[in-house]
Parts: sequence; structure tokens; C-alpha cells
Amino acid sequence: MRIDVVSIFPEYLAPLELSLIGKARQDGLLDLAVHDLRSFTTDRHRTVDDTPYGGGAGMVMKPEPWAQALAAVAAAGPERAEGTGKPVLIVPSPAGERFSQAIAHELAEEDQLVFACGRYEGIDERVLEWAAEHFTVRPMSLGDYVLNGGEVAVLAMVEAVGRLLPGVVGNPESLVEESHSDGLLEYPVYTKPSSWRDREVPAVLLSGNHGKIAQWRRHEQYRRTAERRPDLLETFDAGHLPRADRTAFGELGYDVVDGRLQRRPNA
Ligand code: ADE
Repeated sequence: MRIDVVSIFPEYLAPLELSLIGKARQDGLLDLAVHDLRSFTTDRHRTVDDTPYGGGAGMVMKPEPWAQALAAVAAAGPERAEGTGKPVLIVPSPAGERFSQAIAHELAEEDQLVFACGRYEGIDERVLEWAAEHFTVRPMSLGDYVLNGGEVAVLAMVEAVGRLLPGVVGNPESLVEESHSDGLLEYPVYTKPSSWRDREVPAVLLSGNHGKIAQWRRHEQYRRTAERRPDLLETFDAGHLPRADRTAFGELGYDVVDGRLQRRPNA
């Protein structure tokens, strides 16, 4: 996969040289380049922003440097036959679609991702309209809070997508049993010593009974998800749960009705 990131703070993306993503780049599994938006300006002051039409606080990013930068990274991207897909342009913004594990999986199938890091009040909207001719444009939010710019969001999204690329995570098994892979939060984990500061590891994990361990872990996922993210249970497919799992949900205050979990009133 090819990833291009355009930013006025290229140094902000230095962590992408570290850890699993850095290693994936070294190993040739991921071809990632960071570009300085200012190098696509033509004026002496390398201006990237201006005051907003209509008034208001802050500055808006000018369109032309963005068009130059995006045209350059699209032209340098992987070759594709006439009429086949476009690169995906991701524009981090609190006004975007909410990023998720499902979207990370979708993006991991693409051959080129381009990230356009806005700063200030954002990028002139016409850039996104123009870019739609050359890219599949996806404004994307990390969550309902405001960052100072897109760079931190790009670090998160590149890591979430990059670790799904074949060969990046050493043991692909570890991608299966983790939070959000099955619509639930992950179960709690423990390591040695089995007794630590008067706290014991749950006995079932020392039992060697793999069936019981798997069941305990599933039930812990249900308990955690009900406690921390009950919204995830609204879409959980409870149609084919074993009896013990229905009982576990029952104890958490949920009934299974037509394959869906339903919170019992007053539970
Ligand atoms: N830029 C500023 N805030 C953001 C957010 N919540 N998600 C993605 N990009 C952003």
C-alpha cells in the first residue's frame, strides 16, 4: 500500500518511523511519504491560509496549494488502468464520518491512501469538490472532540490501517481476538505472577480447560461491553448464542428477542 500525508507540520508525523509501522516501511510492506504543503506554494511567504469569506474567527486554508499538492501525490501514486478505482483522500475533521475498525478494514484494501491534514478552521470547501474528480473523498473524524489539526488523527488512522496489512503484525491471530473485531470489547488479560499484591488471577485461567476459558472470556466481553459500551450491544447478533451465553446476558439484564439483545426495563 502507498500512503501520502500532506501537512504543514511534516515533523508531527515522525512517529510513523517507529515501532510496527516504521518496521513495515523498512520491510517494504508500506510505502509512506510525508509532504510539506508549503512546498506547493508559489509566493515568497509560502502562504497557506487566509481570512474566511463571510467573516468569523480564525483562518482558512487556501485552495491552490492543496490542489497542487494533491495533484502531485495522485500523479506519483500506483499505476492504475483507465476506469479502475481512484485513490482515497481522507480529510481528518471533527465534521467527518466517524472512523471505526470496520472503516480501517475497508481502507486496508485500497492501493493508495492520501491524508490531507487541515489546520486552523479547515480547508476551503472547493478543494474537496475539486478533489472528488481524482479521489474518493472521505472526511473522517476520530470522535466527538476537537483537535488542533489532522496530524494526530492521521497517526491514529495510519496505525489502525497499517496493522491490518498482511505481514505487519507478526501473529495475525492477535488481530482476531481484540476489541471491536467482533463488535464487542476485549476480555481482560493477565500474566505472571498469578498472585500479585494479594490479587489473584481468575482461577479458570489456570485450569487448563480451554472450553471453560473461552466461555469465561466471552462472558467477560459481554460484561465489559454492557458496562462500558452498551450502545455496541444494540447491533450485536445474539441469534445463535449457546444457552450459557443467554444466561450470562440475562444476568446482565438483557433478554434475547428476535436475535437481538433487549435491555430489560428496570434491569
Ligand atoms: N481534526 C480536528 N479534530 C478532529 C477529530 N476529532 N477527528 C479527526 N480530525 C480532527
